[in-house]
Amino acid sequence: MTHLLFRHRDIPEINKLQVYQKNGGFANFKKAVTSLQPKQIVDEVKASGLRGRGGAGFPTGVKWSFLPDTIWPHYVVCNADESEPGTFKDREIMESNPFQFLEGVAIACYAVGANEGYVYLRGEFFEVAKFLDQCIAEMEKAGYLGDRLFGTEYSLRLKTHLGAGAYICGEETALLESIEGKRGQPRLRPPFPAVVGLYGKPTVINNVETLTNLPYIIEHGAAGYRQFGTEKSPGVKIFSLSGNVNKPGNYELPLGATFRELIFGLGGGLPEGRKLRAIMPAGASSSIIRVDNASFERVMDTPMDYENVQNVGSLLGSASVIVIDDSHPMDWVINKTIHFFKHESCGKCTPCRDGNYWMQHLTERIHEGHATEKDVVLLKSVAGQMLGKCLCALGDFSTMAVTTAIERFPEDFEKKVKA
Ligand SMILES: Cc1cc2nc3c(=O)[nH]c(=O)nc-3n(C[C@H](O)[C@H](O)[C@H](O)COP(=O)(O)O)c2cc1C
Repeated sequence: MTHLLFRHRDIPEINKLQVYQKNGGFANFKKAVTSLQPKQIVDEVKASGLRGRGGAGFPTGVKWSFLPDTIWPHYVVCNADESEPGTFKDREIMESNPFQFLEGVAIACYAVGANEGYVYLRGEFFEVAKFLDQCIAEMEKAGYLGDRLFGTEYSLRLKTHLGAGAYICGEETALLESIEGKRGQPRLRPPFPAVVGLYGKPTVINNVETLTNLPYIIEHGAAGYRQFGTEKSPGVKIFSLSGNVNKPGNYELPLGATFRELIFGLGGGLPEGRKLRAIMPAGASSSIIRVDNASFERVMDTPMDYENVQNVGSLLGSASVIVIDDSHPMDWVINKTIHFFKHESCGKCTPCRDGNYWMQHLTERIHEGHATEKDVVLLKSVAGQMLGKCLCALGDFSTMAVTTAIERFPEDFEKKVKA
């Protein structure tokens, strides 16, 4: 199929403004600003069924409609933090198809009445930020940004903002704190950013991939977008495939494509002699799907969309599919994930800060073979006490792999503990 998001794979040099323009670039933003009312765009995006690609899958148009029209200014902030281990799709979009992405940001800004939009990038993306700054400057020169665009009353400016390399700053309220120059830690909610967001004003926060869909939706309408994907999960999705596969990489597919198509089709299967044992479909934050003789066919035939991945005991999240073969025991896997979460916990709330500290001690002890059965029970108990009790979802995320590894792969832990 031709790509909706990864158009650079079909059109060489589409990351140059002239090439993008030749291929319809910015015609949709112009169409939006000159011939559509903001509410029409919000309604079209609602009808398209586009859901947030940052992880939670929340309907984008519905999110936009929460902004009150009694409080101004409004802001749009694009989440380009991309810190989930195993997720590497937003970077490819920004580097290779930057103008479609920025056109998407601009359309979102117009739709919610924002005259300023921010792109928040993780600190390690300093080269990407520099490149986007150049793209933004070219857009200003070409008349796509600035005052009274296309002869209308609408003005728009875009800015990039670099973080300092912290996973927590992908959490939307920590991200807002970071832009405001404060320590990147989550805010208490309510109020939600739609009402009290950046600088205390109504704010829309959307992922890079989410916004990159918008030019297509404006051009082809909701029905055009819905020709891809499923009824409840319409459109296309980029799957970041990594781990024990022959051809790791980003793959753009309609939502509802199966694990089999991704892992054994495009991904070229597992290395010679290795057997599929587990899948983490949402990066380090995943509940781990067990794949064995009994479940293999069912898991492989599962459509990868927001509904069906739940039927095999996990979530689609940001669709960073990590493949784990039979050479990796789960005590090793969770030792890795907890090392990450312990390092990235921001420390603001006690359950996440202390819970991850203790989970790291316990997973390490188990993995190194110094633990008893009681330690596994304690590890599960710590995870259980964290779930649903943290200030933001980072704490919950950290428990997912731990709990499911212990429940679904008991033999790995039985092997490791002393009587
Ligand atoms: C700890 C944590 C890290 C997150 N990291 C990211 C991220 O890197 N990129 C992203 O788009 N969303 C991330 N999210 C989700 C955002 O909070 C937010 O839901 C998302 O940006 C909304 O955009 P969407 O509706 O387009 O998905 C993270 C959430 C949490 C709790």
